[in-house]
Amino acid sequence: MENSSSGNAALIVEDKKYELPILVDREGQCFLDIRQLAKSTEITAYDPGFANTASCASAVSLVNGTEGKLLYRGYPVEVLAENCVFVEVAYLLIHGKLPNAEERQRFSDLLNRHSMIHEDMRAFFHGYPEHSHPMAILSAMVVSLSSFYPEIEEENRSEELDITATRLLSKLRTIAAFSYKKSVGEPIVYPRRDLDYCSNFLNMMFSSPVSDYEVDPVIVAALNKLLILHADHGQNCSTSTVRLVGSSGVNLYASISAGICALWGQLHGGANQEVIEMLEQIQRDGGSVDRVIERAQDKNDPFRLMGFGHRVYKTYDPRARIAKQTCKEVLAHLGVSDPLLDLALVLEEKALAHPFFQERKLFPNIDFYTGITYRAMGIPKDMYTVLFAIGRLPGWIAQWLELQQDPEKKIGRPGQMYTGEQGRPFVPVSDRP
Ligand code: ACO
Repeated sequence: MENSSSGNAALIVEDKKYELPILVDREGQCFLDIRQLAKSTEITAYDPGFANTASCASAVSLVNGTEGKLLYRGYPVEVLAENCVFVEVAYLLIHGKLPNAEERQRFSDLLNRHSMIHEDMRAFFHGYPEHSHPMAILSAMVVSLSSFYPEIEEENRSEELDITATRLLSKLRTIAAFSYKKSVGEPIVYPRRDLDYCSNFLNMMFSSPVSDYEVDPVIVAALNKLLILHADHGQNCSTSTVRLVGSSGVNLYASISAGICALWGQLHGGANQEVIEMLEQIQRDGGSVDRVIERAQDKNDPFRLMGFGHRVYKTYDPRARIAKQTCKEVLAHLGVSDPLLDLALVLEEKALAHPFFQERKLFPNIDFYTGITYRAMGIPKDMYTVLFAIGRLPGWIAQWLELQQDPEKKIGRPGQMYTGEQGRPFVPVSDRP
């Protein structure tokens, strides 16, 4: 990955001076190159949460947290969300270019062709208890795909990779809808060849033997937009997990399955479900947002304002702006008046006006408004993070593929600062107190 150099920084350790090169990326961001640090100084860096560390060079997406800018392969997310369908953006992220009409058609056909899952995998769904979280099922099913579909062969690698990536994109959506059907005790609905990616998902979720699902183009467009907003986001927790697991040499399915688990956490993709639970709690407590704003500031209270704050964005998250607008449009189209939206708007306004949030540059993130939109679409809470996973999948795949081709690829292996005991005398079990 090409970077330019901008001189050196000096590090002085016990009167000895070391030169550390400074690299500059395409966005003008400077990086201290510490690749030779341990070798030359025998000192390593301590950086919990990797807040000061770039783990790789990547050309997939750019997140500029100061300007609130997000690019996928060079295109602003706003432009893609306005003009593309999700499948096109998936193609862009994975192949590095927007598809022409013929490529788009071929990709859609391929997605349709691979949308079924092996019939034997259906039996897995029956093994889960009622009300299993669909993220648990999703992760397990994705790693199981590696047992049902052939390993990538060394010869024909790029063609095999293409098929594996397409298969995964298509099947994740089917697995997600099947896990929903399992959770509500309804029979599984198979994908249909005549429906596009998002319509197919909605049909598999909402049609049943006793009621057809009528595809609503406004809802389909909104779902496309929301999935696009989630499609990639630099080296976030789940993407870093996909890369870390992939760096060991394991297959794509296993790496993505690990990414799904990382996404599930409430500080990451799980926040979209938590936001709705927080708003419901506010509603139950009488509808005042002041109490949660107070709690969020209390250092003795683990509570955080869900859907607020971001490691990178120190200004309004550009995805949250589009998600908020989409939310209003979907609710207006459906004629839904959701008191949770009213609460969210008041909460945002009060938090943004509060010095605690201003000083820490805490703004709504992507998760703040998406849940209210999904709720209006009739999607249950525990499926919100699953939708995030469907959206993020092209990014995970693109990043995994980029890692495989990276000449600087190494197994991920952070160090540690040891704080444990040393040289403890061994005591036989009979003498232990
Ligand atoms: N509510 C209250 N205070 C917050 C919040 C919040 N949501 N987020 C950050 N802060 C405060 C912290 O208490 C800390 O204050 P301090 O400096 O007085 O100690 C300061 O802001 C910095 O917070 P960190 O935890 O150091 O920030 P970090 O970058 O590690 O965390 C994170 C980012 C995890 C997103 C955090 O903002 C958070 O927990 N938000 C709520 C969960 C959430 O919405 N997650 C989704 C993120 S977007 C995504 O993953 C798709």
